[in-house]
Amino acid sequence: MAKWIQEKYGAEVITVTVDVGQLDDMKEIEKRSKAVGAKKHYSIDAKKEFVTEYVYPAIRANALYEGKYPLSSALSRPLIAQKLVEIALKEGASAVAHGCTGRGNDQVRFDVTIKSLAPHLKIIAPVREWGLTREEEIKYAVERGIEVPCSDKPYSIDQNLWGRAIECGILDDPDHEPPDEVFEWTVSPEKAPEKPEYVAIDFENGVPIAINGEELDPVKLIGELNKIAGRNGVGRIDHIEDRLVGLKSREVYECPAATVILEAHKDLEKMVLTRHEVLFKQQIDSQWTFLAYAGLWLDPLKEDLEAFINKTQERVNGKVHVKLYKGGLRVVRRSSKFSIYSQNLVNYNIKTSFNQVYAEGFIELWGLPTTVYNALKNSLKGGRNV
Ligand code: ARG
Repeated sequence: MAKWIQEKYGAEVITVTVDVGQLDDMKEIEKRSKAVGAKKHYSIDAKKEFVTEYVYPAIRANALYEGKYPLSSALSRPLIAQKLVEIALKEGASAVAHGCTGRGNDQVRFDVTIKSLAPHLKIIAPVREWGLTREEEIKYAVERGIEVPCSDKPYSIDQNLWGRAIECGILDDPDHEPPDEVFEWTVSPEKAPEKPEYVAIDFENGVPIAINGEELDPVKLIGELNKIAGRNGVGRIDHIEDRLVGLKSREVYECPAATVILEAHKDLEKMVLTRHEVLFKQQIDSQWTFLAYAGLWLDPLKEDLEAFINKTQERVNGKVHVKLYKGGLRVVRRSSKFSIYSQNLVNYNIKTSFNQVYAEGFIELWGLPTTVYNALKNSLKGGRNV
């Protein structure tokens, strides 16, 4: 793409790689940038910012798009776009470019964020514009002496600290089980250890701060949990996803840390928030998740929702124990100093301050609309009330 832009627009190209934990060799990328004639290259380490400013809000919002996808790729886009714009402004560039196709969500996330931050910048998306097949792309590169390490695995992979997305090849057939070779961060459950592994996560203000009693910095903590859950086969996701552009797609992900953290977080919230908060927050969370998925990271509604979400998280402090075993996970213990769970109130055996006598009156009034309606229904039918 860098070559194509130089040829097509006669432009000077500056390349930018943002490290969000995708495990690429940054030195190698810099070398390749020089080799294709870029004037300058920037490597930006944004791992910490990615976790604290993008992943944390997603944890607080229990973000799982369509109940399954922890938004790993989606969360990284507005951050990468923002860094891209920063460099473009610093360098006085007239355009920015990205590598998205015209079929996916990522183009929407990049374009909307770039247009919001710097409306004067032209956006070039070579892959969306050039209309080359994969074979033609390879030929184009080879003719210009650009080395393209094409592997025999035909997958499109996008990864960062919050997860790994695998698309294309045989995965395009939703009626075909993903072959084991597509997974890199998780062992297959069949090969996971025979014994369960427990992991304890401490939360403060709705985000994880320690695992197994050890406080870790945000990037390390996620990395560590990716390993722990991954070695137990936890975090594989396979689902049918509704893309923004109207397509349904079969998506396969590995999100070990995300799967564990989100499950634990949701569980802890149920201990500390009132029923009214829990049920209302589900609606707010799902709106937040949709905005983040849909490329609207910079829409003010997201911030408005976060005002509510963040207020609730002031009490989301405590410890959650998760049991991992052969691809499965379960929260098995939780505790919090903000817990509004009362063992005294629910206990069946001892005299408690929950006075059961009140239950009868409560049921009478609670069910009133329903019983009144059914009385009417029965009388209209000429039937008898039983
Ligand atoms: N479907 C996911 C999303 O929209 C994953 C996209 C992954 N991108 C990729 N180039 N493989 O967020």
